[in-house]
Amino acid sequence: MKFKGIIFDLDGVLCSTDEYHYLAWKALADAIGADGFSREDNKLQRGVSRMESLEVVLKRCAKQYSDVEKLALAERKNEIYKSMLGNMSEKDLSEEVYSTLLALRERGLKLAVGSSSKNTPLILEKLGLGSFFDAVADGNCVMRSKPHPDVFLLAAEYLKLSPEDCLVVEDATAGVEAGVAGGFAVAGVGEARGYGKTNYPLGTFSDILKI
Ligand code: BG6
Ligand code: MG
Repeated sequence: MKFKGIIFDLDGVLCSTDEYHYLAWKALADAIGADGFSREDNKLQRGVSRMESLEVVLKRCAKQYSDVEKLALAERKNEIYKSMLGNMSEKDLSEEVYSTLLALRERGLKLAVGSSSKNTPLILEKLGLGSFFDAVADGNCVMRSKPHPDVFLLAAEYLKLSPEDCLVVEDATAGVEAGVAGGFAVAGVGEARGYGKTNYPLGTFSDILKI
């Protein structure tokens, strides 16, 4: 592999929390009468910040909300989401993901997380990865979320590597856009696998080892 570092997205790449995000937004949408909210809408929420994700739900609502009310709605969703994370543990880290991370580390690569989520520290802790990565950049560290490249650029800076020396691994199109905008090569799983700007489509997570 020509890269010196790998920056992983969290939700939908290292773990399957993307489904909990959807279910929590769906619960909020149902509670406030945003009836049309669907899995298609949820695709637009992948990779972007909590407040931008809320706007996707509110497009399905006739009512106009003030900024204070929006903050309260986002907090309400986050409480639902965190209660869904309640039982999460090291068992939710797949064997494939963990063994691939170990193999990459053995090859001398620096490993980082680059996620829009403010819950990143909590989730990494639950997965038993609280002190695993060489660097973690997340939604608590940047003002602009993906598709802006900020969180990946910060992760690369923490690793003391330039973007061209790092591979970004993403599941969301907004994340692929962020990687490309930052000058990174991008490997894609899930939806990002078939996205035109993805440099390395991955059949499965461990295919990173074949790059
Ligand atoms: C991203 C998810 O990782 O984090 C988005 O793909 C989510 O769907 C964003 O909106 C923010 O997450 P959180 O945990 O800060 O609400
Ligand atoms: Mg993701």
